[in-house]
Amino acid sequence: MRIMLKIENMTMKFGGVIAANNFNANIEKGRIVGLIGPNGAGKTTIFNVVTGVYMPTEGRVIFNPDDREHVISGLRPDEIAKLGVCRTFQNIRLFKDLSVLDNVFIGNHLRIESNVFSSILRLPGYIKEEKEILKKSLYLLERVGLLQEKDEKAHSLPYGKQRRLEIARALATNPRLLLLDEPAAGMNPQESRELMQFILDIKDEFDLTIFLIEHHMEVVMGICEEIFVLDHGELIAQGNPEAIQNNQRVVEAYLGVE
Ligand SMILES: Nc1ncnc2c1ncn2[C@@H]1O[C@H](COP(=O)(O)OP(=O)(O)OP(=O)(O)O)[C@@H](O)[C@H]1O
Ligand SMILES: [Mg+2]
Repeated sequence: MRIMLKIENMTMKFGGVIAANNFNANIEKGRIVGLIGPNGAGKTTIFNVVTGVYMPTEGRVIFNPDDREHVISGLRPDEIAKLGVCRTFQNIRLFKDLSVLDNVFIGNHLRIESNVFSSILRLPGYIKEEKEILKKSLYLLERVGLLQEKDEKAHSLPYGKQRRLEIARALATNPRLLLLDEPAAGMNPQESRELMQFILDIKDEFDLTIFLIEHHMEVVMGICEEIFVLDHGELIAQGNPEAIQNNQRVVEAYLGVE
């Protein structure tokens, strides 16, 4: 099996705080892999390093979307996104005053080939590209169940739908690796069950590899094939859902914060 993402000996320090300490992970292509741990464990920090928000203090990140390894640590977020890594955020980040459709439309712009010149002149190539993007955006909205709301402002959507819109926007960039930071946060049990099925469906349809941070254990245990557990920046366990549920250190890390 091909390793899609390799995190090697990665340490991220913020001043005196070691948010992630010598973290290692190999994520196989086509898998749904979980990243869990108590608040402040360093989960989002790992996503921030993978997506180029932070350059790791030590170690490196290697992305292999097409049988060619790219060292992505050190690249800019937009360069990493172009290679096929996209994410959603723990605190939803949408263009709140734009319509639902425009939010997805914008996601596509990472992929537009035409240059500014041809867009100003509205050359045929550009107009054709724009039509295709519109078609694709509408398809993605249908896919996440938001077609009816396409003209509403993003901020008017209820929470669960905003999360789905964020995923649609991420899909518009044609990712190979999708990072989801607490997609079920704020969802009720029914919504999070639907989200689980939705994640499984888009993984197959868009041929994705998914790296998922989540506090809802039902979601993590239900769809992840492998789980990494962090506590205070340290990897304390790694394994399949059953092994993680029966791991003494994991149980203690969670009980310790309650
Ligand atoms: N930019 C930053 N500057 C300083 N400290 C930071 C920064 N980002 C994260 N940290 C610190 O690193 C640690 C890990 O934070 P991180 O956000 O990665 O945790 P998390 O596991 O995602 O937690 P949560 O479940 O609450 O989202 C925390 O102590 C946090 O305060
Ligand atoms: Mg976080």
